[in-house]
Amino acid sequence: MGSLVNKHVLMGVTGGIAAYKSAELIRQLQKAGATVRVIMTPAAQEFITPLTLQALSGYPVHTALLDSAAEAAMGHIELARWADLILIAPASADFLARLCHGEGGDLLGAVCLASSCTIAVAPAMNQAMWANASTQKNVNNLNSRGIKIIGPGEGYQACGDVGAGRMEEPDLITDQVKALFTSNLLDGKKVVITAGPTREALDPVRYISNHSSGKMGYALAVAAVEAGAETILISGPVNLQAPERVTIMHVVSAQDLLDASLEAVVDADIFIAAAAVADYRPAHNAHQKIKKNDDNISLALTKNPDIVATIASLEKRPFTVGFAAETNDLENHARKKLNNKKLDLVIANDVSNQSIGFNSDDNQVTIITNDSTEKLPLMSKGTLAIHLIRHLASCVSK
Ligand code: CTP
Repeated sequence: MGSLVNKHVLMGVTGGIAAYKSAELIRQLQKAGATVRVIMTPAAQEFITPLTLQALSGYPVHTALLDSAAEAAMGHIELARWADLILIAPASADFLARLCHGEGGDLLGAVCLASSCTIAVAPAMNQAMWANASTQKNVNNLNSRGIKIIGPGEGYQACGDVGAGRMEEPDLITDQVKALFTSNLLDGKKVVITAGPTREALDPVRYISNHSSGKMGYALAVAAVEAGAETILISGPVNLQAPERVTIMHVVSAQDLLDASLEAVVDADIFIAAAAVADYRPAHNAHQKIKKNDDNISLALTKNPDIVATIASLEKRPFTVGFAAETNDLENHARKKLNNKKLDLVIANDVSNQSIGFNSDDNQVTIITNDSTEKLPLMSKGTLAIHLIRHLASCVSK
């Protein structure tokens, strides 16, 4: 069973007596490691107050689509991108019908329409409403679109009826949510990922580096391990915690990264080069601190080895994936990298755009192979990593 560490769960609470259980559900999700933000529909607020869920979640509860102050703080599109999972619990019959028809007239509906992440619903309603042919048709439709239906449970209902329609218990919902982040798509496979910047020493106290945060590579490592892969993450210096169940190799320079990659890649099925490797290093690494004697000094630089190209040229090579960080003419430059480095796939992103650049939590990429180009929408790096790992799993299982 996976954990929810570092996962963003956007919880939608709709109108129904089971709304009181959403308070406990927030606690359970948090205990499993998730950060939870809450959207409440107007009907939900008749059953439980936003203040209760705000106190429990630690974040303001979002209630309205057309509220300029709330939209300015964190708008519906940002909320949609923030989420790694949208969990609607309880989900009323009315909300299921609206979700089924793609209605975006309220905040929760609009966020569901705008998000690329997985959506799960925990229905809660009277047993006759659940059994009704319209509800069943809507649920089947949602199911066929990949929306996860959790429950409902059976038993005594608040209205006095007995039957199916009770919202599942919070601990059971939490277990099913954890399971949504795990799969066996990469069972038995070995994935090696490089991440973060490299540092190229000038002298004992100075170095050349770049602004890479490592977030994309780390998110890919989490997604790979959650898909069942033996995962090795080779990381340059970053301020991120090592993901659970991932073997981490810490490196500093491009040469260290190359050595670690050649060691790790033996028997690997997939190699993903997400590191922002310094292209050049100082030709001389001074043993003593360079003193400020001259008015002008010049720096001689030497080209670093290209790690991903080296791996792609191995006789027994894994499926090799590179990133192409570009500021202009994205597809053209990315295709050149695909061909010159002999890669199987390139993930191209525009680093001139601050909202998807090195330090951002979001990214928007285009997946490029020899015979295809697929532009993905803007999404969080966590959600994107899940999409990319699914895509790579389908490539290596062909
Ligand atoms: N890469 C690598 N080793 C290098 C340089 C880059 O493995 N010495 C990998 C990166 O991890 C990335 C891909 O190559 O997956 C492309 O990196 P990028 O910086 O976009 O391109 P460069 O090859 O450095 O070319 P340029 O800087 O001229 O765009």
